Amino acid sequence: MTDAFETDVLIVGSGPAGGAASLFLSSYGIDNVVLTRYRWTANTPRAHITNQRTVELMRDMGIEDQITDKGTTHSLMGQTAFCTSLAGEEIGRIRTWGTHPQRLADYTEASPTLPCDLPQTLFEPILVGTAASRGARIRFDTEFLSLDQDADGVTAHVRDRLSGSEYEIRAKYLIGADGGRSKVAQDIGLPMAGAMDIEGSMNIVFEADLSRYVAHRPSVLYWVLQPGAQIGGIGAGLVRMVRPWHEWLIVWGYDINQPAPVVDEAMATEIVRNLVGDDTIDVKLKGTSVWSVNHMYAEQSSVGRVFCMGDAIHRHPPSNGLGSNTSIQDAYNLAWKLALVLRGQASPSLLDTYDTERTPIAKQIVERANKSRTQFGQIFRALGMTPDAPAGRTIESRKDDTPEGAAQREELREAIELKDYEFNAHGVELGQRYSSAAVVPDGTPEPAYDRDPELYYHPTTWPGARIPHCWLTRGTDTVSTLDVVGKGRFTLLTGIGGDAWIKAAAAVSDETGVPVESFVIGPGRELEDLYGDWSRLREITDTGCLLIRPDAHVAYRSHTLPGDPTSTLTEAFQSLLGR
Ligand code: FDA
Repeated sequence: MTDAFETDVLIVGSGPAGGAASLFLSSYGIDNVVLTRYRWTANTPRAHITNQRTVELMRDMGIEDQITDKGTTHSLMGQTAFCTSLAGEEIGRIRTWGTHPQRLADYTEASPTLPCDLPQTLFEPILVGTAASRGARIRFDTEFLSLDQDADGVTAHVRDRLSGSEYEIRAKYLIGADGGRSKVAQDIGLPMAGAMDIEGSMNIVFEADLSRYVAHRPSVLYWVLQPGAQIGGIGAGLVRMVRPWHEWLIVWGYDINQPAPVVDEAMATEIVRNLVGDDTIDVKLKGTSVWSVNHMYAEQSSVGRVFCMGDAIHRHPPSNGLGSNTSIQDAYNLAWKLALVLRGQASPSLLDTYDTERTPIAKQIVERANKSRTQFGQIFRALGMTPDAPAGRTIESRKDDTPEGAAQREELREAIELKDYEFNAHGVELGQRYSSAAVVPDGTPEPAYDRDPELYYHPTTWPGARIPHCWLTRGTDTVSTLDVVGKGRFTLLTGIGGDAWIKAAAAVSDETGVPVESFVIGPGRELEDLYGDWSRLREITDTGCLLIRPDAHVAYRSHTLPGDPTSTLTEAFQSLLGR
């Protein structure tokens, strides 16, 4: 009886953060229970953009194919248009999510995966379903009420929403993945910075065959610049593909200083017809909701045995498509640490590094997403739709054969190009580097960025960075460096001449009980660098080594072979594990 109500990790929430936390923990063999207030997972398609890092994590979990099979493929994601309506005049296009030929090279060089577009309604069941198939216990219709923590664990008070009965669940650790109005974050008193409810927005989900307006410029986003489109919301009116090309989500703003509108069928249909620009289309409304734009992040993400993640610690508009992605990546950061601590292989102090590593990311993405939202302003100005635009400027005047017309065209081009920071922010998506006690510095300064750090990912093996991707060969197979690492264990990589590291890693693994997989990469070995890319990327000599954490970030790096690699590696490991 008691057994059913005890677990190692209790996860509140089955959204992207909670579902992913459960997937990772279950895959690592850690007992966990998920509770969620509703009868099932997300019932509206909110997050879609699934960035490369998230697809990499799913690849590590062995379910990349489920994500890419269900998602809309990368090649259909990129012809993002700015228009007066779908049927109206087209003002410009930007190739998004790495689909520009130059950016495609950046994206494919950086990862074995590509982004895809997967509605949250389809992603969450994959996360939660796979977690359950790997041992997680999922309790739907169950509401978290409050918690008490002590030196040994956390007691959560919960309510079964079907029977109304209340009971307790005892866990060693608790994860608050309960979204933007997190009760867990509130209960543990996480300090928050910024403001909630800064703009008003609404979602309208509908079915309509819009192929004739979009199939020639396939994209997931069509931005509509009409009078009123800059009020509230996420910067402009948006017709967002859910399923090509018959299911859609419109995002339209309202003035947050006015009462929230009641979006009835008549209002929703009118907005759909305005943005599509065609009164004759057959619209089947599926649902509407009103929500608000936030600019808030936690300045601390955990207290004692309780860790918050996802929207509980970062609340921001969907601009840049970072919400669900970052939520899943939060979970990946914490899961391996919890696994090591729960197995007694690392000190609980390792868990403090979740806060050190992820709290700065929460701030970064909240600020990035909100900045992107406001950067539509330049496009409106270029079209003469803001009070500060030059007199006489209109959408039409951009066609004029005058110096003003030429200046307007140039301003518009630059304004659209600025949106790269929202739609091609590869550095933000992939370039996270950590600095904490779970990383052993090698004394070298952080490598400088030679291109814009938000737009471009800069590969490096500097401790704290994600291991760069390149293709290696294993017999007749081609495998990514990212395929070699992960799977819940540490990995040591060295070159010909680094065999002593392999013995050192085995000794360290025996002593600590922490699994370490080791590889010599070189000719005649299991993994070969036939393309020579790894030698270019690794930033160490043939006799040096990289120790990679289970989340694919570099834990420790040695440029050459020291006199006593076993004691050097033991020292590094003890520091990492807080032992
Ligand atoms: P989320 O809110 O998803 O889940 C919270 C969970 O907690 C739910 O399961 C809920 O039932 C549960 N819960 C809450 N309180 C509880 C309680 N007291 N007891 C029990 N359970 C409780 N992101 C992205 O990466 N790419 C994108 O393209 C977009 N696009 C997008 C569009 C629109 C219109 C919106 C509004 C948002 C996006 N996002 C996005 C953001 C994304 O939807 C959001 O960041 C994630 O859903 C956050 O995931 P979480 O798991 O943190 O919370």
